[in-house]
Amino acid sequence: MLDIAIQAAQEAGHFLKESVGKVKNVEMKKGEERNLVSEIDKGSEAKIIKMIKGHFPSHGILAEESGGSSLTEEYRWIIDPLDGTTNFLHGVPIYCVTIAIEHRGIVIAGVTYDPNLDELFTAEKGGGAYLNGNKLKVSRASEMINSLFVTGFPYDIENNPDHPAEHFANFLTATQGLRRLGSAALDLAYVACGRFDGFWEVALNPWDMAAGVLFVNEAGGKVTDFKGSPMNIYRKLILATNGLLHQAALNILAKPY
Ligand code: IPD
Ligand code: CA
Ligand code: CA
Repeated sequence: MLDIAIQAAQEAGHFLKESVGKVKNVEMKKGEERNLVSEIDKGSEAKIIKMIKGHFPSHGILAEESGGSSLTEEYRWIIDPLDGTTNFLHGVPIYCVTIAIEHRGIVIAGVTYDPNLDELFTAEKGGGAYLNGNKLKVSRASEMINSLFVTGFPYDIENNPDHPAEHFANFLTATQGLRRLGSAALDLAYVACGRFDGFWEVALNPWDMAAGVLFVNEAGGKVTDFKGSPMNIYRKLILATNGLLHQAALNILAKPY
């Protein structure tokens, strides 16, 4: 299954890269002006699903653009065919394909492929996380002032009740630096490989984070909600760190605005 996930992510990733600047039809999703989708997101997803269904016709699918099953199947594939759509539409080369595989509701494998850097992140539950075959370990930063954090903003930023902008200001004054790359799946992969020391976001979907949560856990990091409770990819709030900075980051997320 992991091999097929890798093949699907790489094929779709190459399709994305070849499609930059050739988008014909951009639509708004859910009436949100910032939440865009094009025929390239949909085409990437169709390629991935075709490959999975060709090998595993009985497996369930939960995919961003076409929805999917409510976990009645033993195995379910969770797919974001283009994570970083806004970057992609502007020609910013920070986007990826991310796919995870659930067995009876537990994520057992994940793949995130960045076609621009040709970086393939993979993990199997209990088997470690890898970047192009090299084993990953989270960073060792233990002071916030030495740490580089990353976050993302929800498309409904004006109305989101979870204070994304206020958290941003609080982390900005606590850390060495703060980034907003525009791809939650890459943000998590970068925490797993130690490029970032931590990541939080207030409104993610399971396809944005399923593979990345596995990478961070397998690389020795920690992933919870904002109260420190175990991570559930079907809830929106996520904090992922190298573990050493987790409590300090939870304290910042609990700060008044
Ligand atoms: C988005 C990206 C972004 C994050 C948003 C996501 P999309 O996914 O991961 O970094 O801030 O919350 O929705 O729409 O590009 O697949
Ligand atoms: Ca996404
Ligand atoms: Ca997407």
